[in-house]
Amino acid sequence: MEIIIVPDAQSGCAYAARMIEKLIVRKPKAVLGLATGSTPIPVYQNLIEKHQKNNLDFSQVTTFNLDEYLGLDPSHPASYRYFMRENLFSKINIPENQIHIPDGLAHDISAHCAEYEADILKAGGIDLQLLGIGGEGHIGFNEPSSSLTSRTRVKTLIPRTREDNKRFFKPNEEVPHHVLTMGIGTIMEARTIVLLAFGAAKAEAIARSLEGPLTARIPASILQMHQNTVVLLDEAAASKLEMIDYYRYVYENKCDWQRVK
Ligand code: GLP
Repeated sequence: MEIIIVPDAQSGCAYAARMIEKLIVRKPKAVLGLATGSTPIPVYQNLIEKHQKNNLDFSQVTTFNLDEYLGLDPSHPASYRYFMRENLFSKINIPENQIHIPDGLAHDISAHCAEYEADILKAGGIDLQLLGIGGEGHIGFNEPSSSLTSRTRVKTLIPRTREDNKRFFKPNEEVPHHVLTMGIGTIMEARTIVLLAFGAAKAEAIARSLEGPLTARIPASILQMHQNTVVLLDEAAASKLEMIDYYRYVYENKCDWQRVK
């Protein structure tokens, strides 16, 4: 696990976008795993800019999103399909049939989840998975106590997540109780994982994920078992890490050829 402490969220997101750009240039048929929430929005803004100014080409890229609310229509502004269209897909040249987002209105949920897994395999697996983190350490919508080998399925949101995500819904609207999410096992098969966390509200979850014991209580702690994970944190999100000085030292003394420029 590579832990990089960046000056602010903007530079962390610019770093993640450069990783994605390098991947697409090296592999035009790259398969991206994408995340929603406020955290990755600047990554998507960077990618749109790279598409518009540097002709970064998404025409052969395939994407798989982590999750979606169960029962929410794709036209609902809080649905993740809507979010992705607004924040990325409508502004780059990716063909619609290469975009995959779990379907919260699927008639047969378990068949749909199995098909989602099969589609990831058919695409050759995920090259780079972008992740945010929930206040209780969730990745995707894999809440505490999720099986660490789980696959795409329905999950029940914990009250804190529903509270955190209330801001995306109108005041008179209920945040759904249920979601579809890639499993932790699904996420762990991505060849590279990039976890982004910014702000003090993420500090506890980050410390427990990166330095605490590996436990289903903190789903992101499983990333300690992944071979190629980069964690980008601002000072506030990194503030509860015991070994913060060591992570800085490692990054500063990295071989030049290992750097993402
Ligand atoms: C949601 C998403 C997660 C995301 C998390 C954090 O619950 N399902 O994928 O990481 O929110 O969101 P934010 O980035 O807005 O803090």
